[in-house]
Parts: sequence; C-alpha cells; structure tokens
Amino acid sequence: MTMKGLSRFVEALLSGRRPRPFPADDADAEALRVAIELRAARPGSNAPREEFITGLQRRLARDQGEPPRAPVRRFLLAGGAVGAAGAAAGVIAEHARIGARPGPGGGPLTPDLGVWHPVAAAAALPEGAVHGFAAGGVDGFVTRSGGRLRAVSGVCTHQGCRLTVHAGTRLRCPCHGALFALDGAVLQHRLKAPIPALPRLAVRQVNGMVEVYLPRG
Ligand code: FES
Repeated sequence: MTMKGLSRFVEALLSGRRPRPFPADDADAEALRVAIELRAARPGSNAPREEFITGLQRRLARDQGEPPRAPVRRFLLAGGAVGAAGAAAGVIAEHARIGARPGPGGGPLTPDLGVWHPVAAAAALPEGAVHGFAAGGVDGFVTRSGGRLRAVSGVCTHQGCRLTVHAGTRLRCPCHGALFALDGAVLQHRLKAPIPALPRLAVRQVNGMVEVYLPRG
C-alpha cells in the first residue's frame, strides 16, 4: 500500500469511519495494528467498536495466512491526542517503538524504551496528595499514601476519557461516570461490561523529585 493510501486508511480509522478494504502485506498489517492501538489510546474520543477491531484483525490475519490474533489489548496509556495528520507512517513507527508491557506478576507497565520523567517536586506531594501530570505522551496521577508513592494512568479504560480527581481520594471519568481508586482499582461504574483497572506505572523519588518511568519523548 502507498503511504498516501495508508494515511487515508488511518485517517478514516481515527475519525471513526469504516476504511475501504485492501489487500495487506506484512508491513501494512503491522502499521495498521499500531494505528488501531493508537486509535484506542486516544483520550476523549470514542473507540472503534470491538466487532470492527476484531473483524479488521481477522481480515488482516486471513490476508497473511495467519491464525486470528486475540483482540487488541488497550493499555490506554497515551495522553496526547494523535491528530489524523500525524498518523503518517513516521508517527506510527514512533508509537510502535514506545509500546508497554506489564511488569512481572502484573506489576506496573514498563515502556519498552522508557526513561524516568520528573513529574513533581517531592515537597509538592505531601502525604495524601494527588498530583496530575502529562509527560512522555502519558497522562497520569501520582499519589502519596501511607508514605508510599503510586502512579497510575489518567485515562479511562472504558473509552479513553481523561480522568479528574474526585473528592481528593478518587479518580472520576467525566464521560460515563466510572470511579477509580488512586491505586487504579475500579470502584464503580454503570457500564454493561466490566472495565479494567487503570494501568499502574513505575514511580520513585530521587533527589527531591518524584519520577515516573514513561516512554521517551
Ligand atoms: Fe466511559 Fe470512562 S469513558 S466510563
């Protein structure tokens, strides 16, 4: 597929329209998988229907003679909106490199190519405080409770809306009202299906600064 065609496909995907089908080679399929994950990671936007994602993956797998993959897992880490114009292959490749995987035993997400980003002065995060940050393309919250630092993604795991602090002790989704604890656990929602807890992020305090391990850049 040409770069122009790929951009058109991704633009359609980002704007929620159904892209025109085309025969995909390996490189196209990989770029499109990343585009789907980017689409799912955009805060403040409606994610594509699960059936659409699954159907697209099946078609890609069939075109390549592969068994169908499990539906895309949405980490919902990314914080900056990815504009359609920025969805050209260079941006796709950059975000493909970012990636993230849960730590051993389902611990905090660890970006593949991460660095420690300072997100707050330690003095600005006393016991019981909640501090929002945007760094490394990620929106999140750091908290200190019982002397322990925690960091979680600040993007709702339902459809990617940005969360807000509620009553100083909860994270609330303004879109459909899901409520999360500061450690990321789902406290309540009125959705038909369960939603995952917020991804946890590695956090530390060094030289008077609170740092979170996030994608580079
Ligand atoms: Fe639906 Fe958050 S986006 S509850």
